[in-house]
Amino acid sequence: MTQYSKRMVIVHWLTLVLLVVAWYLGEELDEARHETAATLTGYVVHALVGGAVLLLAFVRLYFRSADGTPPPIGDTPMDKVAKGIHHGLYALLFLLPITGIVTLVSSDVLKALQAGDASLLPQKFSGVFAHEAHEILVTVLMVLVAVHLLGALKHQFISKDGLMKRMSLHRKD
Ligand code: HEM
Ligand code: HEM
Repeated sequence: MTQYSKRMVIVHWLTLVLLVVAWYLGEELDEARHETAATLTGYVVHALVGGAVLLLAFVRLYFRSADGTPPPIGDTPMDKVAKGIHHGLYALLFLLPITGIVTLVSSDVLKALQAGDASLLPQKFSGVFAHEAHEILVTVLMVLVAVHLLGALKHQFISKDGLMKRMSLHRKD
């Protein structure tokens, strides 16, 4: 096995797309809330896209254990850092949606959704710890994805060892 399975590859890139959409919708929501223009639909759509990330994270772990993974490309300290980053990214794929769900259910957003009344949506999330955690984790995600991307670019253009092909739908064999 020299590449990740096709379904692992699909889930990897689909997760990237969903994360970009969830991040964009979350930022829009935050901005709208500050202008008291947030809508119930805004919260529902953000929660659905974020929820899809959580669902895919479970699916991905199942595919990973069922299909296996290609052997590590090396055992240098940098390879160990890359592996640590992968673990961090996996953790975020669970923690981000979970803190999002907790934010929703432990704040007035839930009440507003239950009543179907956008005027009940919170102006502030003061005292909602999960909201702070959610915001911090978004920043951690940005940093880890940036390092992960830089690593992939280094392999592609400096080491030229074909690492990107391991996460490609184009099959070598
Ligand atoms: C992994 C996917 C997710 C990403 C990348 C993401 C991203 C974001 C971002 C960038 C914000 C704006 C942060 C801020 O308030 O300044 C945000 C806010 C929020 N997110 Fe998420 N989120 C995700 C999943 C979820 C899920 C699954 C839920 C709920 C089921 C959720 C609920 C919320 C809520 C309630 C807010 C507060 C919005 C506001 O400020 O009014 N998020 N999210
Ligand atoms: C930004 C563009 C991205 C590029 C170019 C990229 C590229 C890659 C490549 C080439 C691999 C294979 C590494 C290897 O075989 O050792 C990989 C693995 C991985 N990527 Fe990405 N990736 C990107 C975004 C993401 C995002 C957004 C996440 C999740 C938050 C992510 C999570 C992972 C994980 C967890 C692995 C390890 C897979 C496993 O062993 O199960 N990647 N990525």
